[in-house]
Amino acid sequence: MDEILEQLRRDVAAATDSKQVEQVRVKYLGRKGIITTLAKNTDFSRLSSEEKRSFGQRLNALKSEAEQLLKEALEKAKAAEKDLVRKVAGLDLSLPGIDRRLGSIHPIALVQMELEEIFQGMGFRVLAGYEVELEYYNFDALNIPPDHPARDMQDTFWLDNGMLLRTHTSANQVRALETYGVPLRAIFPGRCFRNEAIDASHENTFYQLEGLLVDRDISVAHLIAVMKTLLSQVFKREVTVRLRPGFFPFVEPGFELDVQCLICGGKGCATCKQTGWIELIPCGLVHPKVLEFGRVDPNIYSGFAFGMGLTRMAMMEFGIPDIRLFNSGDIRFYEQFPAAF
Ligand code: DAH
Repeated sequence: MDEILEQLRRDVAAATDSKQVEQVRVKYLGRKGIITTLAKNTDFSRLSSEEKRSFGQRLNALKSEAEQLLKEALEKAKAAEKDLVRKVAGLDLSLPGIDRRLGSIHPIALVQMELEEIFQGMGFRVLAGYEVELEYYNFDALNIPPDHPARDMQDTFWLDNGMLLRTHTSANQVRALETYGVPLRAIFPGRCFRNEAIDASHENTFYQLEGLLVDRDISVAHLIAVMKTLLSQVFKREVTVRLRPGFFPFVEPGFELDVQCLICGGKGCATCKQTGWIELIPCGLVHPKVLEFGRVDPNIYSGFAFGMGLTRMAMMEFGIPDIRLFNSGDIRFYEQFPAAF
């Protein structure tokens, strides 16, 4: 009987699924099974009553031991089969779903995408420029000669090879005129760099969106019309704008375009520092010298240009109080913006 038990143990261990376990059960405990027929095949007439009793006890023990072994093996096989089904099917519709976290779009990217769409609707092409730029395009070709005080206003990161990190997207103006000629309608969104101390409203890396339109007979009226259309679409309401004189070497005349404060409607509040106006977009008519640098005849063509701070637009549109949040890496800040545009 010990041999039978040993054999059974080996058979159970070799059984890999519930069907095989069942076959083992039939082999030992089935109607013609080894254990079941053990009593039948034994000649009891030769045994003493003492031996008969002992045989009966051992047979019963063997039976229950066998049943126990087979029961455990069956449970194990069934559990393994369930695991396999789960693995192969890969899906259990009765399980609760996994909550997938979506990323969100950075507020500056959101504003940029929105502006690109609006400008494209007005026939502007979207062009990229270079973050590492030649001094020529960033300064000289914009009528900012080497000794010009405007260079000091824009503390520049210079590279060892004499190039620089562009201080403004205006560097694209003459490049685009050279490449595409006139008439031209283009915007240039991009990252700019200045060697500035960082505080609540200054970063050494920031985003601008430059615009340039050159054609015959372009005047300040066109500039104002485009700016008004743009701002009304961004802020989703009619906005009031005004122009103040502003100085930039590459425009003449140059302006600061202010928008009537969207928070207080012009009455005066903390956002507009009680003035009722918010300075939003520096702009002007393209300086004749800049056109000449771009191989365009200023006697035939004129144009306007503007340079928006995307960071500032985002702060206005979403009410973001501190510029440092943009690059903070703080997920709680980013999560407040949508995942799709
Ligand atoms: N490039 C200027 C700056 O970063 C902004 C600017 C002013 C752009 C007037 C223009 C413009 O196109 O016409 O300060």
